[in-house]
Amino acid sequence: MYQALYRKWRPKSFSDVYGQPHVTRTLQSQLESGRISHAYLFTGSRGTGKTTCAKILSKAVNCLNPVDGNPCNECEICKGIENGSILDVIEIDAASNNGVDNIRDLREEANFTPVNAKYRVYIIDEVHMLSIGAFNALLKTLEEPPSHVIFILATTEIHKLPATILSRCQRFDFKRISPEDITARLVYVAEKENVTLTENAAALIARIADGGMRDALSLLDRCFAMGNNIDEDSVSAAAGIAGTIHLFSFSEYVAKGDFTSALKLVSKLHNESCDIDSLCTELTLHFRNLMVAKTVKECDGLIVCSKDELEKTKARAAELKLSKILSSIEILEKAAANIKNAVNKKIQLEAAIIKMCSPVSSGSISEEIEERIASLEEKINALSSGKVFDAPKNNNSVNVQEQKPAEPVKAEPVQNEKPEEKIAEQPEEAPAETASPVDDGPFYNWSDVLEALKKYDIPLFGIMAGSTAVIKNGRVIINSENPTLFDFICTDTHSRELARAIYDVLGQKMKIAVSNKEKAKASSNPLEDLKNKINSFNNN
Ligand SMILES: Nc1ncnc2c1ncn2[C@@H]1O[C@H](COP(=O)(O)OP(=O)(O)O)[C@@H](O)[C@H]1O
Ligand SMILES: [Mg+2]
Ligand SMILES: [Zn+2]
Repeated sequence: MYQALYRKWRPKSFSDVYGQPHVTRTLQSQLESGRISHAYLFTGSRGTGKTTCAKILSKAVNCLNPVDGNPCNECEICKGIENGSILDVIEIDAASNNGVDNIRDLREEANFTPVNAKYRVYIIDEVHMLSIGAFNALLKTLEEPPSHVIFILATTEIHKLPATILSRCQRFDFKRISPEDITARLVYVAEKENVTLTENAAALIARIADGGMRDALSLLDRCFAMGNNIDEDSVSAAAGIAGTIHLFSFSEYVAKGDFTSALKLVSKLHNESCDIDSLCTELTLHFRNLMVAKTVKECDGLIVCSKDELEKTKARAAELKLSKILSSIEILEKAAANIKNAVNKKIQLEAAIIKMCSPVSSGSISEEIEERIASLEEKINALSSGKVFDAPKNNNSVNVQEQKPAEPVKAEPVQNEKPEEKIAEQPEEAPAETASPVDDGPFYNWSDVLEALKKYDIPLFGIMAGSTAVIKNGRVIINSENPTLFDFICTDTHSRELARAIYDVLGQKMKIAVSNKEKAKASSNPLEDLKNKINSFNNN
């Protein structure tokens, strides 16, 4: 019968327990000197070795030939405990035996001397699940334990234990196991099982397991099912996550603002049944690594990956602004929360990806604002000295009304008509002599424009859902609640597609402006004031 790897490779002596030396050394030295306590409490996250150490301890206290505080695993007692023929070591799952009666039975039984072994050992797992009555019953026994009894309580949720219980036990805190220790154990197990496991693959499993050895071994088990040569790809497939190659593609697209490619990649991975929750987590981790690489010089110990991956991470970090990385992490964190409850997880991730690929919106990141103000100040100075310059291509900075005539469709900010009507506006192309002016009033067939837009620019179409428009003085003014619309229309590609959709419906080129209340409110901020100043310069 197939035995799960994590069971098969449960350490049998303290020396085989990875990453918990503060626990194992202390226990070993206690055992060597015979200073055994009657109540131990093992706490820490799941899969870190609590049950394992409880079992080793139960053998070590009873072993006939212990070595350095370790059980010999050879004597009849060790073997009997291991195969369950010696009944003096009792494992109780408090999750299913949590009543006061269970503990009363235990107390009565504990009074009898052990049959074969020296100590009767009770291992109470998930002890936080006991009822209040059961805790009180247990407390009585802990106050005056029979000399031949040892309790080992284990829990992942120490805060749920009454202080009276805590104070009677010797407490050991199990730590999350470091990626290096997990990697080392995985490599050891794979070797013993005659399976090739690359170091990158082991490191990837360690990263996914996040400090839990049981999860790491379970994932290794799933990889084993796929063959005898395990590399990063098999791990990604077994874990249902996107490989690192894809993560680097995502950050490349974010750097370039190329959401078309990013959305295509989401679809591709989704079709290959990559799990959206894990993809979101992996992306967050990837951007976390970029953040560390961007900010910490000596970041080698802080990022769990291979050498070449580290180099790639550093190179990518250099291509991205810190503000971009930080806002991406923020967006992904929010998306992760939304994805949990979402009916369609993919759409949530797509929305997040589009935001990540869009220019960082002003207001959230101070660095960005500082940059914008600096560039505006520069322009004011230039303008006051009579210099004329082109609107920058970089859509993160606020453009100045372009001076060149008839440059084809370019997103341009604006100048205020009324205070609440602002922003993205594109200079008209040299107006066709024959075009008759469009009358002012509501843009009745706006839905046709949106329909046309669906063909040209799906992300923009999505962002413009629910918008309406009016025509005023020969320009189309869009009303939208969506605060990101402005940033979108400020980019050349989107404004071009929108102009095209409008052209399809009206048969002529129009200026475009966005009106929204959020932005109007924002005009009380210094950045807006500065922008207005520039506009007034331009008008003069
Ligand atoms: N520190 C560790 N060193 C080596 N293997 C471990 C360690 N912790 C857990 N494991 C592996 O994970 C499995 C489950 O560990 P267990 O001790 O039951 O965890 P828990 O802390 O949840 O009680 C073990 O059988 C073993 O294979
Ligand atoms: Mg356990
Ligand atoms: Zn023994």
